[in-house]
Amino acid sequence: MPEPVIRRRDDNDLPACVQALAAVHAADRYPANWPTDPRRWLTPDGSLGAWVATDGAAVLGHVSLARPGPALADVVGVPAAELAEVARLFVGVSARRGGLARDLLAHAAQMAIGDRLQPVLEVESGAIGAIALYERTGWRFVGSSVADWRTADGQPAVVRIYIGPSS
Ligand SMILES: CC(C)(COP(=O)(O)OP(=O)(O)OC[C@H]1O[C@@H](n2cnc3c(N)ncnc32)[C@H](O)[C@@H]1OP(=O)(O)O)[C@@H](O)C(=O)NCCC(=O)NCCS
Repeated sequence: MPEPVIRRRDDNDLPACVQALAAVHAADRYPANWPTDPRRWLTPDGSLGAWVATDGAAVLGHVSLARPGPALADVVGVPAAELAEVARLFVGVSARRGGLARDLLAHAAQMAIGDRLQPVLEVESGAIGAIALYERTGWRFVGSSVADWRTADGQPAVVRIYIGPSS
């Protein structure tokens, strides 16, 4: 079996990304609320780049970088212009626990560092698997805040904020 390849996402990947995201949403409620326009959700304004893990035509996983908002930058204590937020990280259910998210996360962090930006991220406090991933791979918890969106059960989301490697 060939190893999955991590490469920059292009527009032709978006239908497969949306399909993979729909399966992740069904399994994990990520994202918590299915977006009206999932293609747009994957291509937000302010994106700094996006990458996919592929096996042939299939998208197995996805990650992106974005300029963080002021709330996240406040918790980190660094101007948003010096930060890159890892976002939209997901791996298809059948491809899990093989190190793909670890590789996608490391790839995104290296891309940020290469642009002299500090990688950061936020994760919903109930996302146990993702939190385990970040803590296992050395990301440092710096604080929590209440987000401006609600979890699937209608409660205001509490997010945990992490700083990644700086070199
Ligand atoms: C979280 C997620 C990205 C992990 O993907 P993955 O490819 O299975 O993760 P990896 O195989 O790279 O895991 C690396 C390590 O992280 C930890 N980890 C990952 N998923 C875990 C889980 N569900 N429970 C406990 N630990 C977990 C483990 O230490 C794992 O190493 P191990 O398998 O040797 O024990 C995936 O489960 C997912 O897409 N979840 C839904 C979307 C989501 O929550 N995204 C994050 C948004 S902030």
